[in-house]
Amino acid sequence: MIENDSPRPKRRVRYRGKNPRHFEEKYKEHNPEKFVDTVAKVIASGKTPAGSHRPICVAEILDILKPKPGQIAVDATLGYGGHAQEILKCILPGGRLIGFDVDPIELLRTETRLRDAGFTSEVFTAIHSNFAGIPKALANLNIAAADLILADLGVSSMQYDRPERGFSFKHDGPLDMRLNPNRGQPASVLLANASQEKLAQIFTENSDEPHAQAIARAIAANRGALQRTTDLANLIRNSLHNSKDEVDLSIRRVFQALRIAVNDEFSALDAFLRILPNTLAQAGRVAILTFHSGEDRRVKKAFKDFHTAGLFSQISEDVIRPTPEEIRSNPRAAPAKLRWAIKRP
Ligand SMILES: C[S@@+](CC[C@H](N)C(=O)[O-])C[C@H]1O[C@@H](n2cnc3c(N)ncnc32)[C@H](O)[C@@H]1O
Repeated sequence: MIENDSPRPKRRVRYRGKNPRHFEEKYKEHNPEKFVDTVAKVIASGKTPAGSHRPICVAEILDILKPKPGQIAVDATLGYGGHAQEILKCILPGGRLIGFDVDPIELLRTETRLRDAGFTSEVFTAIHSNFAGIPKALANLNIAAADLILADLGVSSMQYDRPERGFSFKHDGPLDMRLNPNRGQPASVLLANASQEKLAQIFTENSDEPHAQAIARAIAANRGALQRTTDLANLIRNSLHNSKDEVDLSIRRVFQALRIAVNDEFSALDAFLRILPNTLAQAGRVAILTFHSGEDRRVKKAFKDFHTAGLFSQISEDVIRPTPEEIRSNPRAAPAKLRWAIKRP
């Protein structure tokens, strides 16, 4: 017998049927460099390739931020690095982008991807931090202020589509929903411990769920039984008597409300908005993409207050929305609203 020490070649994931259905089976989509045609087909069909994220309103954001060579840019929500990569192309040579993300898992993947794309540590720095911690992180890097700041709130497709992160009711997975799985408590623990009143308040305040009371009652009567995303989705299905489309909307809103609560997203956004005027350089520009009214209301009010106080010289009068073409090509862009502001010179 001949001994062979070389590692066995990895077998590709087998799947049933003609097309892969589950996240891990989509091995071609996980390798965009190798399977360019497959990835192009997935995008053309209006979907997001597994393990990636399609940046939203890229042209509009570049038009607002007007990145130039030599500038300091902050991407407060690095995600897959789609926006960051486009900004980096504009600020080089001489510029530098600092990217922040609370998710240690995806941050590492994105840092590796951007390094592989040729962005060295001189021009691109990835920092694992909540965006409320931007001033401290910039001070540690001896950066006084940023010429431009982008925040693209919420979750990325990589997080949403990965069943083990528990963000989506469409995939069975643990009911987790933490952006940083090393901190805080998973959604299942929140559901097991929060009072019925508190749950109803979360669903109403975080996502305007009209059936908040009925859903909170059903959850309180089934404590401890909600460990998986599908457990919660099925409970909501069984406790409401509306059309399938309406029930699906309620499930979507409850998942969103829980995610916001689990990650304390409104407190983080409020803290980020508070630090903006001092973090921007004079005449610095900021763009923020929001995905629901709770976020947009906060951004709109903060920009207006800073404008009234004379800290910002210009703010967007109306929200900018993705074009119908972008929404057709990427339906996940549909709820996006973009606002911008310019600090006084
Ligand atoms: C919509 S994605 C950003 C996608 C990115 N613009 C791109 O082009 O790939 C939002 C990202 O923000 C991160 N995030 C959410 N809240 C955060 C916070 N408070 N601080 C830092 N990152 C946050 C999420 O982990 C996620 O990776």
